[in-house]
Amino acid sequence: MCAATAAVLSLPAAACGVPTPQQAFNAHSEYASQGDDLFFLIIVMGVVIGVIVEAVLVWAAIRYRRRPGDRLPPQIHGNTIIEILWTTGPVVVVGYILFVTLPVIFETQAAAPPSSMNVDVIGHQFWWEFQYPEANVVTANELHLPVGRTANLILRSDDVIHSFWVPALGGKRDAFPSHINYIWMTPNSTGEFPGQCYQLCGYSHGNMRERAIIQSPADFQAWLTAQQAPAAQPPPGPAADGGQLFQNRGCAGCHTITGTPAAGKIGPNLTHFASRHTMAGSIFETTPQNLRAWLKDPPTVKPGSIMPNLNLTDAELDVLAAYLQSLR
Ligand code: CUA
Repeated sequence: MCAATAAVLSLPAAACGVPTPQQAFNAHSEYASQGDDLFFLIIVMGVVIGVIVEAVLVWAAIRYRRRPGDRLPPQIHGNTIIEILWTTGPVVVVGYILFVTLPVIFETQAAAPPSSMNVDVIGHQFWWEFQYPEANVVTANELHLPVGRTANLILRSDDVIHSFWVPALGGKRDAFPSHINYIWMTPNSTGEFPGQCYQLCGYSHGNMRERAIIQSPADFQAWLTAQQAPAAQPPPGPAADGGQLFQNRGCAGCHTITGTPAAGKIGPNLTHFASRHTMAGSIFETTPQNLRAWLKDPPTVKPGSIMPNLNLTDAELDVLAAYLQSLR
């Protein structure tokens, strides 16, 4: 299945092996459950009403069908009782749906509780940036959150309109370049949950994926602390050579690596690049082969990619990949 998907997408290797499906019936936050419950209720009501209506329709068509020799039946123009019944029936049904839906809309659209953890979520063509302002941590593609704590995602975009959507966490909300949006939820189980940009944003809209990684509070804190450290300095060897190349070959103009002169703001912060499971808009697993394929020709691998083809030689690809893999 994974190999077939990768072949269809013409990608060297798709990011597969995510344990849970990317669909909204897989709720892992209170927000997602509320949406799920409403959806289920409305589907059940619709099915029950649909079955009753169809049954009466079929019964009437058979029972009262025209038989040979039948004359024209009595012509009835309006029946007050029936008119009242089939007007009030739908009003009651739709009114009930409104009655149970409105509180959820108001609750989930309200401001996040003050005790929430703020995360700045910034859409870029074609990847997501996640900033933890209270911890001074910046990462990309993979949103780490602690289970049981409300996360307030503060959404904006650096270029066009994107939309943040991790179905297991519930809802979807647009990220605008000129307007701040919010979405908040409390993850209720640990795990990795896939997501996808939901607003057509350019050539690689379909390649703009993300992952939510929900961790125990202790694991999350350990991750956050590790992310606060400056980048590891590799010992002399290919990785160190790659570090030199990174600074000299133009990479540093677009990417930040804390602890080195690289302070570019256009591409993802790479300080702890190798600690992420996925890369390039979360479309590849972070493996040496994928990294090499990506560095060799980004716009072919991800159409519309702002990262250019730098015409790196094989030797340069090897040492750059070694360096990036050392950034744990
Ligand atoms: Cu970003 Cu679609």
